Amino acid sequence: MEDLKNNYLKVLQSDDFKKEFEQLLRDYVGRPSPLYLANRLSEKYGCKIYLKREDLNHTGAHKINNTVGQILLAKRMGKKRIIAETGAGQHGVATATVCALMDLECIVYMGKTDVERQHINVEKMKMLGATVVPVTSGNMTLKDATNEAIRDWCCHPADTFYIIGSTVGPHPYPDMVARLQSIISEEIKKQLLEKEGRNYPDYLIACVGGGSNAAGTIYHFIDDERIKIVLAEAGGKGVDTGLTAATIQLGKTGIIHGARTYVIQSEDGQIEEPYSISAGLDYPGIGPIHANLAAQRRATVIAINDDEAIEAAYELTRIEGIIPALESAHALGALKKMSFKPEDVVVLTVSGRGDKDIETYLDNAPAQ
Ligand SMILES: Cc1ncc(COP(=O)(O)O)c(C=O)c1O
Repeated sequence: MEDLKNNYLKVLQSDDFKKEFEQLLRDYVGRPSPLYLANRLSEKYGCKIYLKREDLNHTGAHKINNTVGQILLAKRMGKKRIIAETGAGQHGVATATVCALMDLECIVYMGKTDVERQHINVEKMKMLGATVVPVTSGNMTLKDATNEAIRDWCCHPADTFYIIGSTVGPHPYPDMVARLQSIISEEIKKQLLEKEGRNYPDYLIACVGGGSNAAGTIYHFIDDERIKIVLAEAGGKGVDTGLTAATIQLGKTGIIHGARTYVIQSEDGQIEEPYSISAGLDYPGIGPIHANLAAQRRATVIAINDDEAIEAAYELTRIEGIIPALESAHALGALKKMSFKPEDVVVLTVSGRGDKDIETYLDNAPAQ
């Protein structure tokens, strides 16, 4: 941790890193991602809704922005072995991809439940040359995969770099991942200026698992009070059903994976097993940045249940022809719970594409 803490800012702020990072984001990831004015969705909700299309990135989600940055840091720190945790598999695929690109060994820890529900991503990781280790502790999801990755890292500190996939974990990860994802809001500013003649929206909406796509979306707007920040967390079957991952609503201050933040925990401080239909939001903690924004009431956090997310995903698919990831569908679900003025400009981040979720969508199709 000390080694990482002492190196990350020096590297991230060096000209040589910035040049390589920017070039890969442009030529390999395909940035800038479009800011798309969704006309029919706008009409439906009575405002102007722009979608920030992270789903169009190489590998299908925002996760690749962060893995490109961290692999460049790992190389500069002389590390040869890369490990990662993954929930939905998007971060695992993004890590396996950059390891193939840089010819580095890659080991991905993934809960057994997630290996089953996101099996297309598992096959992609294997094809990319990564070793996928199914984790069978706890309820076999993201928290448990992260535990195993941390155990591995503790045992191999000299040669191993741990690429964390979200704004979670010990410092400097939340800060580092937010910086690497901040390209999202940097682009939103420029794109809005071009399209709207002003470089800020009235609302920013994003889903939050650990918080990386949301952190990237809001990064350059946090201090600007003109912009309302809305975060969608996973309500699961319902916030008071015991089957939920709504950390902001239910969490109390605690420590998880080296970060002090809100944690869903028992009276005795034992971390509770979370639940969400979405593997990427199924986490009993939340980034400390987001916990702080919620505590200060800078961000409004809305819990979106499984069925509301599924309905929102079908709605976007049918009226805009875009199949979103289940995680992003939670951000879309927030639209129904808000009211807008016709002149409001809303930017909603579609963090990923829904290819990995097709089976879940078909199994849970809303009644027509
Ligand atoms: C498409 C997509 N969106 C969102 C998330 C949630 O992560 P975060 O809150 O770090 O953006 C994930 C996590 O796997 C994901 O795959």
